[in-house]
Amino acid sequence: MDEPKTALVTGGAGFIGSHLVDRLLSLGHKVVVIDNLSTGKLKNLNPSATFHHLDITQPSVTEVFQREQPDLVFHLAAQASVTQSTRDPFHDSDVNVFGTLRLLEAARKCGIEKFIYSSTGGALYGDPETHPCTEEHPVLPVSPYGMSKYIAELYLDLYHRLYQINFTTLRYGNVYGPRQEAHGEAGVVAIFTQAMLEGHQPQIFGDGNQERDFVFVDDVVDANMLAINKGNGGSFNIGTGEKTSVNQIFESLQSIIGYRWGPEHGPARHGDVYKISLDSSKAIRDLGWTPKMEMAEGLSQTVEYFRNAGKAVR
Ligand SMILES: NC(=O)c1ccc[n+]([C@@H]2O[C@H](COP(=O)([O-])OP(=O)(O)OC[C@H]3O[C@@H](n4cnc5c(N)ncnc54)[C@H](O)[C@@H]3O)[C@@H](O)[C@H]2O)c1
Repeated sequence: MDEPKTALVTGGAGFIGSHLVDRLLSLGHKVVVIDNLSTGKLKNLNPSATFHHLDITQPSVTEVFQREQPDLVFHLAAQASVTQSTRDPFHDSDVNVFGTLRLLEAARKCGIEKFIYSSTGGALYGDPETHPCTEEHPVLPVSPYGMSKYIAELYLDLYHRLYQINFTTLRYGNVYGPRQEAHGEAGVVAIFTQAMLEGHQPQIFGDGNQERDFVFVDDVVDANMLAINKGNGGSFNIGTGEKTSVNQIFESLQSIIGYRWGPEHGPARHGDVYKISLDSSKAIRDLGWTPKMEMAEGLSQTVEYFRNAGKAVR
C-alpha cells in the first residue's frame, strides 16, 4: 500500500464521493470532507471522515486547507444537474467554475501533492461525430453544465502551468450504482429502479433510443485511486466504450425486478446529448485502468441496494 495521506474529498456525502471516501478510509488514508449537503446525505458519509459542512464557494474553504493540510484533493462537489444548469446557469457557474477556482486558490496557498477533478465525458463533447469518442474530439457542450465543467478543466490546466499544481481530470460516462439519488434527473438507473420497486411507472424522456455509456461507481473509484500516482496533467475518459439505450436499461431492470408494466413516455429534454460512448484507451494505457463491472451484475447490485434501503425506511 502507498503511505497514508490526508485526502480532502469535496462532495464526499454525494453518490460517487461517498464511495471514494469509503475506499480511501479502507486503505488507511485520513479523509476530510467538504460538502454543503445540497444533494448529498449524511447517511452516506462514513463517520470516520472529518466533516466540514461548507459550501465550496465560501472563503473559509482556505481555512479548512490550512487546518487539515491535505496532500490530495478529490474535487467532486458540483451542481451536477443538466436540467438545473439550463434553468439557472448562474448558479451552475458559481458552483462549478467559481467553486473550483476557490479550491485551486486554497491549494496554491497551502501546497498540495495532487488535485484530481471529476469532470464529465457525457456532457462535454456534445453529440459526438465518432463512437466511441476520444479525448481528441472537439469540446462542444450542449448545456451550461457541460460548459462549466469544462471551464473548470481549463482553470486546472492554467494553475498547473502557473503554479505547478499537479492534476488529473477524469471525464466520466453515466455513473450508476448504490447510493445514487433516485430523485431529480441524474441517474436513470436509480430513478427506474426506485419507481419499479415502488410499483410506479417510470417515465422515459423522448423515444428511449438515446444511448449512454454506463459505468459502475466502483470502477470510477478505481480511476480516482489510480490517478493519485499517474496521469499528471492529463484528461481521461472513464467509460466502458459501450452504448446502452435507455430502453435497454428499462428492459434489464424490468427483468431483474420482475416489473410487469411498460414505461410512460414524456417529451425529450432540452440539453440532453442523444448518443454517446467514451473511448477510454488513454486511461487504460496511462492510468492502468479497466472497467471491471459487467452491466448485468452492476444493475443487480444496484437493485439489491434499493431493495434493502426500501426495507430500512419501512
Ligand atoms: N453521476 C454521474 O453520472 C456523473 C457523470 C459525470 C460527472 N460526474 C461528476 O461527478 C461528481 C459527483 O457527482 P455525483 O453523481 O456523485 O453527484 P452528487 O450530487 O451525488 O454529489 C455531489 C455532492 O456535492 C455536494 N455539493 C454540491 N454543491 C456543493 C457546494 N457548492 N459546496 C459543497 N458541496 C456541494 C452535494 O451535496 C453532493 O454531496 C460531480 O462533479 C459530477 O459533475 C457525475
